[in-house]
Amino acid sequence: MEQKVKEIQSEKFRNDILYGLMRFPKSLPSKYFYDKKGDKLFQQIMAMPSYYLTDCEFEILKTHTEEIATYLFNSKDPYDLIELGAGDGKKTKILLRYLIAKQQNFVYKPIDISQNALASLASDLANILPYLKVDCQVGMYFDVLDKLHRQSDRKKVIIVLGSNIGNLNHEEAVDFLKKIADAMTQEDRLFMGFDQKKHPQTILDAYNDPTGITAAFNKNILARINRELDATFDLTKFKHWQTYNPETGTAKSYLVATESMKVYIKALDKEIDFEAWESIHTEISQKYDDAAVAWLAKQAGLEILHCFTDARNYYKNYVFKSILD
Ligand code: TRP
Repeated sequence: MEQKVKEIQSEKFRNDILYGLMRFPKSLPSKYFYDKKGDKLFQQIMAMPSYYLTDCEFEILKTHTEEIATYLFNSKDPYDLIELGAGDGKKTKILLRYLIAKQQNFVYKPIDISQNALASLASDLANILPYLKVDCQVGMYFDVLDKLHRQSDRKKVIIVLGSNIGNLNHEEAVDFLKKIADAMTQEDRLFMGFDQKKHPQTILDAYNDPTGITAAFNKNILARINRELDATFDLTKFKHWQTYNPETGTAKSYLVATESMKVYIKALDKEIDFEAWESIHTEISQKYDDAAVAWLAKQAGLEILHCFTDARNYYKNYVFKSILD
């Protein structure tokens, strides 16, 4: 089974890479940043002072723990706390600790595509919160959400932290929210982080550190293609380039070829041509304001019940309920 999943994943990886590099303009899906090396680099990004997102959300959870809990967990019934894209759970632990101290009756169900990430999260939680009931779910968000929806009539609180939604364009974001709303009953709640529009320089600095960690992270996708598909990308011939458009709120990351070249991908038996200064688009990190979030919510059939923010108003966490049933 495990083997079969791996085969399907690697087939998908090959197809996605080929599709992205053969089209014009070129692009690569950002989910492929996160292999072992990429996970490490992203941990380093989250620890950089200029990458304010993690600190802001941490501050929000820390400062408003009790009020957040009142919005999300005010019923006496047992419930599932489902986290999409749990990662290392650093921020979630604040909530978990509080809920355990309050002797709440719930099961924490982290969902992640990475078996590795979930295994280390589970062993970490077993150490620091031995009374916490944890049920890890490996898989794609929607498959697992769907399964949980059909299998259990327990009340659900779904949380999505890290402004992960910002890595989707608006159409995909509406689709994502709709699917979550579909899995929710009137009693269920969604708690989601949205990075906010702010001084454009602050945003550029978050995605373009002088130490080169972000560049290494962005280029890791090429390193991964070299490793896994036996390709000949010369990483020194690509530049990490970051843009932010204050009108649309869209930050974009690119890799730009500094000279014309050919790259051979042996596992696909394909040669890819680059013109000098041609770009590969790798990531979108959308920034929001209240109007944009309200619009997304409306499109998806969600209602905003409350919103929490940090002292600088850099970042917001919204509480939603579904208006469908
Ligand atoms: N998805 C994260 C974000 O949008 C990851 C990220 C941080 C990132 N820095 C980056 C992706 C630089 C590409 C390039 O915030």
